[in-house]
Amino acid sequence: MSVRAVEWDPESGRLVLLDQRRLPSKVEWIRCGDPECVVRAIEDLAVRGAPAIGIAAAFGMVLAARGGLEGVKGAAPRLASARPTAVNLPWAVERMLEKALSTPGEEELRPVLLEEARRILEEDRAANRALGFLGQALLSEKCSVLSHCNAGALATGGYGTALGVVRAARENGKEVKVYLGETRPVLQGARLSAWEMAEEGFDVTVICDSMAAALMKNRGVDAVIVGADRIAANGDFANKIGTYGLAILAREHGVPFYAAAPWSTFDTSLPTGEGIVIEERPDEEVRLLPDGGRLPENVKVWNPAFDVTPARYVKAFICEKGVFEPPYDFSALNGKKTK
Ligand code: MRU
Repeated sequence: MSVRAVEWDPESGRLVLLDQRRLPSKVEWIRCGDPECVVRAIEDLAVRGAPAIGIAAAFGMVLAARGGLEGVKGAAPRLASARPTAVNLPWAVERMLEKALSTPGEEELRPVLLEEARRILEEDRAANRALGFLGQALLSEKCSVLSHCNAGALATGGYGTALGVVRAARENGKEVKVYLGETRPVLQGARLSAWEMAEEGFDVTVICDSMAAALMKNRGVDAVIVGADRIAANGDFANKIGTYGLAILAREHGVPFYAAAPWSTFDTSLPTGEGIVIEERPDEEVRLLPDGGRLPENVKVWNPAFDVTPARYVKAFICEKGVFEPPYDFSALNGKKTK
């Protein structure tokens, strides 16, 4: 069983989040009893990764039900906009709000919302397993995979998307060597992916982000598999900053480049990646140096948290609904909404 980042504690009626800011040095948990606590945890990256923040926000809506329907309506915009790029966040909040609005009695509100949030969590776990199984079929018996950021159990309800494919490959008897880009500035690759994979005994090698080209040229990798935060109808997609560069490098070196994501990450309301809002995070994440020092204060910092990879670089999208190959037109697929 892979690590779980988001859990509901039925005894206390609180949301329990593994604090990802401290990993792997400290394994600590945050216990949220109100929606503001969940908003802060999402903003501060205590919980992060597109599916995981959607799931956390869904439980945030359960916590808001203490204030009745008005409380739920009031919490929805705060939770949905805690971070702007991952579509899973507004997707989950809207789904919870619709449920709340269609619930007749106020006394029913909390149990109904709790059931819905649990369903979102379980569906995400099931989607990861399903897409992992589909994705592993793309890998050979003995292979190496480069991934970026953390698209693993910690970023989801469990098991992971990109790292779920790696897990599924091993479960299917394949021998997979995992390379992980450290993912400056917050180091989700080095701190989080490396931790969760090493805990399960995977063969893990961490590289600095700037080493990816040399890795492909000198050692070779068989596939790049990343997660996604929002996938537009034409297949352009946002993911952690550095993904776009990896896609270009993969093309140059003839390495297949895949994005793995559940259907909740697809945003067919956006025709292309042009409309994706890219979060810019505080300077401090870049300004602070590993030795505790700081960049000179008169030096500017630009800190976009995500970039958009054009669809033309993606060999396939790995989703629980199937493995999609170009040309991409997700607007033709039913059952999706969102904004
Ligand atoms: O800023 P983060 O850590 O939330 O960024 C996360 C990513 O970019 C992940 O690759 C993405 O959310 C997919 S998680 C399955």
